[in-house]
Amino acid sequence: MEENILTTSEISGDEFEKTIRPLSLEEYVGQAELKANLEVFIKACKMRNESLDHVLLYGPPGLGKTTLAHIIANELGTSLKTASGPSIEKSGDLAAVLSTLEPGDVLFIDEIHRMPRYIEEILYPAMEDFELDIVIGSEGNSRNIKIDLPPFTLVGATTRAGDISSPLRDRFGIISKLNYYTHEELKNIIQRTSKVLNFAITDEAALELATRSRKTPRIANRLFKRVRDFALVDNKEIIDKETTLKALERLNVDRSGLDALDTQYLSSLIHKFSGGPVGIETIATSIGEEVSNIEDVVEPYLLQEGFVHRTPRGRIATKKAYEHLKIPFDNKSKESYENS
Ligand SMILES: Nc1ncnc2c1ncn2[C@@H]1O[C@H](COP(=O)(O)OP(=O)(O)OP(=O)(O)O)[C@@H](O)[C@H]1O
Ligand SMILES: [Mg+2]
Repeated sequence: MEENILTTSEISGDEFEKTIRPLSLEEYVGQAELKANLEVFIKACKMRNESLDHVLLYGPPGLGKTTLAHIIANELGTSLKTASGPSIEKSGDLAAVLSTLEPGDVLFIDEIHRMPRYIEEILYPAMEDFELDIVIGSEGNSRNIKIDLPPFTLVGATTRAGDISSPLRDRFGIISKLNYYTHEELKNIIQRTSKVLNFAITDEAALELATRSRKTPRIANRLFKRVRDFALVDNKEIIDKETTLKALERLNVDRSGLDALDTQYLSSLIHKFSGGPVGIETIATSIGEEVSNIEDVVEPYLLQEGFVHRTPRGRIATKKAYEHLKIPFDNKSKESYENS
């Protein structure tokens, strides 16, 4: 079993995720400000009998962007059509999705930052005036056609807000960032999942799982699913703390939500390179991992949680990393830390 249980990305074919998605704003946990605003905007556009302004959702993987897009359509009482940035290659692809829209529908474009620039330009008049301007036919025999579209709401999602061009960004009336979740919120999500899947969990166990879920609902749900397997095999009717701790140990998820590879990375940085600064290639080689895996999978959480700092001279382990591995933060390491 080499699959990384703590990865924030969606695992393809994960039907389980779909079955536990909340369907209404009320069931959607956390993101209080965003939720409250959306509630008002949705109510107002229903009262005016207009389509909702276009919405851009951005934030790290697994925080609930896709879920929210579905909820927006549900709350509006319309249907959701989906597309993803990389899948729209030709203007015809975009025209095909747009032509399926009914008045008030939500068009969800995931990974919208990966949409080709010329497609973006076709999208502008579609977003602003509900008009589709496309060229059909081939060179020498092409003509422009204009198609009227019904009013619709574009919901765009991206993990990289910085990669979105400003003309595109400017065409969204509502731009919202999704934040990481608190332990209490994750505990609620786990308890909700436990009800949906009809497998009970104690308060204590839910909180334990929550604290190890990297502030991310996708991970919380995935850990729940695994811990449930341990409980089932152990003939327990309720997931208690004992089962939870045992499962987490078997899954190699430590008390801060770090896995074996994270620990190996930190331990190598401290033991082999005196805490740094050291280049990422060097660390990668020392633990036999690909640089890309370190950069995309291992480091984001370690950086975000302050276990590691990135400096022009390389990575350095912070005091928090030493404390976590119970290694004294001695003078030598402090010196290299302060000089970097
Ligand atoms: N606020 C929430 N309340 C309850 N469950 C949530 C919430 N946010 C996310 N989830 C759960 O977490 C899982 C991941 O959410 P989702 O697929 O919406 O994330 P995402 O932001 O679209 O991720 P990606 O960037 O990888 O596409 C879903 O299965 C959903 O059930
Ligand atoms: Mg998504």
